[in-house]
Amino acid sequence: MTPSPVFDKEKLTALAAAHGTPLFILDHEVIRRNYRLFREHLPRVQCYYAVKANSSQPIIETLFAEGASFDVASYNEFMQVYRYIKHYEPTAKKHYVWDKIIFSNTIKDAQTLRKIKPYKPLVTYDNADEVKKIARHCSTAGLVLRLKVPDTSSQVELSSKFGAEPADALELIRLAGEAGLGVEGLSFHVGSQCVNADNYVEALAVTAEIFNAARNRGYPLNIVDIGGGFPVPYTPEVTPFERLAPVISGEIERLFPADIEILAEPGRFMVATAAVVVSEIIGKARRDGKVFYHINDGVYHSYSGVVFDHWLPNFSAFRDGPREICAVVGPTCDSFDKITLSADLPADLEIGELLYTENIGAYSIASATRFNGFEGAKIVHVNRHKDE
Ligand SMILES: Cc1ncc(COP(=O)(O)O)c(C=O)c1O
Repeated sequence: MTPSPVFDKEKLTALAAAHGTPLFILDHEVIRRNYRLFREHLPRVQCYYAVKANSSQPIIETLFAEGASFDVASYNEFMQVYRYIKHYEPTAKKHYVWDKIIFSNTIKDAQTLRKIKPYKPLVTYDNADEVKKIARHCSTAGLVLRLKVPDTSSQVELSSKFGAEPADALELIRLAGEAGLGVEGLSFHVGSQCVNADNYVEALAVTAEIFNAARNRGYPLNIVDIGGGFPVPYTPEVTPFERLAPVISGEIERLFPADIEILAEPGRFMVATAAVVVSEIIGKARRDGKVFYHINDGVYHSYSGVVFDHWLPNFSAFRDGPREICAVVGPTCDSFDKITLSADLPADLEIGELLYTENIGAYSIASATRFNGFEGAKIVHVNRHKDE
């Protein structure tokens, strides 16, 4: 991944001057680049962008124009995507919704199931009660069984909450059939920001075993969904995607028939590097000897990933000065609102000066609140159209 042309200090300063702070700047050219990189290195894999990573509508629009499909977690996200495909309906093939949307929240409430029933959706499940619920409220659905797989060393683990034990998989496929539902394939998620390629290798091996066993019993599985988790180069130690992708595609070629569909649900990978936040120092104090910069954005707002995503934030200043390890904290009255206690920054910055944070496009504004009445950052989209 290469840095965006908009993210040099001069341009950031100009955008902050034009729009004010806090400012969340999203570069759509970087999103397009990330999508193309993914497609180039995993050409057999259809990319379903996980809308949860950043559900800003222009991102969906940009990725839709690139040819992406989408992974949604709720009815609202479903509708954020469906608006682009509803005109397909009269002429399109039977499963046109499946080509563009997978509903990959394994637990869906009855009301949601009833609302998506008319669209004949593709949905994931991982337990017997969900089968009953889907059969009752959304009998038109195609099913994908999500498996529990290793998520060792991933920044966000998911397997403690989702995924069927591999030993239960065949029985869950049988139960779905008995309930009149068709199981189309298998899925997994190796944990978000997965820096351990072995997780993918093991997950694919487990999936292949179940896939073959199910086909041998006559279940016509046709989809393998390798989930998200594709890592972002937050630090130089992260294995580049270009090195991870051949490992994944090699295993796919080795383990699965050539004529099945391979899906993935990358979220973070598409958007993390596409955003920068510019904030302003609104207060400064020395507390127990350490410089505390109070800024106008915080963990209840753009930096919510520090809490929900276990994300380690980065801060840069727009000028040099004598450096110290400083704290950077948010604007709310909560002492929990400390973004970091270990930012290596010039210690002589003054109130009114700006800071910026890179690689903050994923799981940031998606989980921001309006706590204490602060609106949060203004979002500015740059390079939204290819010829900008
Ligand atoms: C089911 C599912 N798919 C995809 C994703 C996206 O994962 P990532 O952002 O790691 O690519 C998530 C993230 O939580 C998820 O729960």
